[in-house]
Amino acid sequence: MCGIIGYTGFRKAAPILLDALKRLEYRGYDSAGIAVINHEIKVEKRSGYVSYLSGNMEGHVGIGHTRWATHGEPTDINAHPFVDCRNEFAIVHNGIIENHEKLKEDLIKKGHRYSSKTDSEVIAHLLEEEYEKAGDFRKAFINAINRLKGSFAIAAIHKGEKRIMGVKKESPLIVGIGDGENFLASDVPAFLPYTNRVVILEDGDVCEITPKSVSFYDMNGNPVEKKEEYIDWSPESAEKSGYEHFMLKEIYEQPVAIENTVHSLFSTHIDLKYHGKINVIACGTSYNAGFAGKYLMEKMLKIPVEMHYSSEYRTRPNVRERALSILITQSGETADTLMAAKIARKRGHETLAITNVLGSSITHHVDHVLYTSAGPEIGVAATKTFMAQLASMYYLSAKLGVDYGIINESRHEEFMEEFRRIPRLIENSLQLEDDIKKIAYELKDKEHMFYIARGINYPLAMEGALKMKEISYIHAEAYPAGELKHGPLALIRKGTPVVAIVSKDETYEKMLSNIKEVSARGAYVIAISSESEVKSYVDQWIRTPSNNPDFSTFSSAVVLQLLAYHTAKLRGCEIDKPRNLAKSVTVE
Ligand code: M6R
Repeated sequence: MCGIIGYTGFRKAAPILLDALKRLEYRGYDSAGIAVINHEIKVEKRSGYVSYLSGNMEGHVGIGHTRWATHGEPTDINAHPFVDCRNEFAIVHNGIIENHEKLKEDLIKKGHRYSSKTDSEVIAHLLEEEYEKAGDFRKAFINAINRLKGSFAIAAIHKGEKRIMGVKKESPLIVGIGDGENFLASDVPAFLPYTNRVVILEDGDVCEITPKSVSFYDMNGNPVEKKEEYIDWSPESAEKSGYEHFMLKEIYEQPVAIENTVHSLFSTHIDLKYHGKINVIACGTSYNAGFAGKYLMEKMLKIPVEMHYSSEYRTRPNVRERALSILITQSGETADTLMAAKIARKRGHETLAITNVLGSSITHHVDHVLYTSAGPEIGVAATKTFMAQLASMYYLSAKLGVDYGIINESRHEEFMEEFRRIPRLIENSLQLEDDIKKIAYELKDKEHMFYIARGINYPLAMEGALKMKEISYIHAEAYPAGELKHGPLALIRKGTPVVAIVSKDETYEKMLSNIKEVSARGAYVIAISSESEVKSYVDQWIRTPSNNPDFSTFSSAVVLQLLAYHTAKLRGCEIDKPRNLAKSVTVE
């Protein structure tokens, strides 16, 4: 959601800014713009795509932005960057300025004129005012940001200067260190073709970059030391590499994503106390991964694991409990999950984040972090990060089982043997793609679908339905199979597609009954199962490789992702950037 880029160096800024904005497109946006200094500040901004911008401007210092509208419609005027009345400063901003109305009112009284309906424009005017008093860009910037309330990542430039000022508060901002050039961006892929050396800003960090230097300050202007890190992502990892869509590429990257995640899990030492209760808190796909993990965790640990949507967590009364709260977020920037992490901590819980992004905001609000190492995920629909989160929950279940003295070494080893086979399981499931394509053809003209399952497969059904609706725009609902006859069965009629996930476990016989129930009402049943018996009760059988019910989740997930992908493709949908959605949702 919203992307920032800043460049200062020896190259022409505009092409770099536009290229970086394209790399940030996956975050979701509805307008874009750049500002470049060449004697004076020149701005080009438009509603719609980055490709609408010509980038026809000279100059070696500039900032750019992709905007996802929150205050004011997605129009040309409301797009960033914004300049002050004298066109001496330009700014781009992610987040929300909560006190913008009051600030704006005061500045208008002093003669400032506004062009947009955004909360962000106020920052450019504040800079103008503060510069008049301070006479120095850095001082003016620090004074201005101290007058802001809310969440923000900001980059600002000043006419006649090569430096870019930046600040981070509850919205990501990363400095990229090059040779004779430096960058500032909301996410690493923006500058990955130029450098892998980064400094990840923390809340309250201010940075000043010039072509040859990067320096850091706190919000009072005192210098601070920051650690440089090396990101081992390759520029290709953020490119399509011959795949038609990022989503398909990322589905195929899953075996490697899991190998890397397993490696990183094994090399992370975390010591978690026993509390007798676990909460899992997340949104969307991360919630579904956590939910599937809950089933295994309860089975292994024999303690209650309670699921919470991050956005609902704050409405929960502060019940007295000792708990480990696990926050799952691939981006590490989801506003609802960040808020939930803060609340859980305030309530005295031990907190653990599972995230894919090094140094992301969530890591500053929890006691422990487990990194999934899935690599950058560009497609808005989460795929490889889901698998990596699921694997992390499995790993954690087994680890806690041993740490808490609930499972013995030999049970642990037995489990780990299966665990290490997950990448192979995924590879085998990827081979089902041609069969899945044929089934997608049967679904392409449908408007409604159901996904049913029981036990650990129910969260998978939820994930399958979420993938289908978000990228193909088919209305897809997931139900615990036993719930159908309590209402939704009324919607099943001739030809209604029902995807059933069936494992050979204690739910098997009941799932077969549920399949017969919907078949008898004319449903078009697609079963995902390793069991050949299922074939005789359904219209389509997708034979998955694993017959271990605990681990078949990984193979079923691949099938569900590919089914959604191919259905969306046949419907001509914009798969990597579904309408109305953003990759990282930084507003509550
Ligand atoms: O970055 P997060 O994991 O916190 O994101 C949570 C959801 O916004 C995300 O999983 C969303 O549901 C995906 N678009 C689903 O594919």
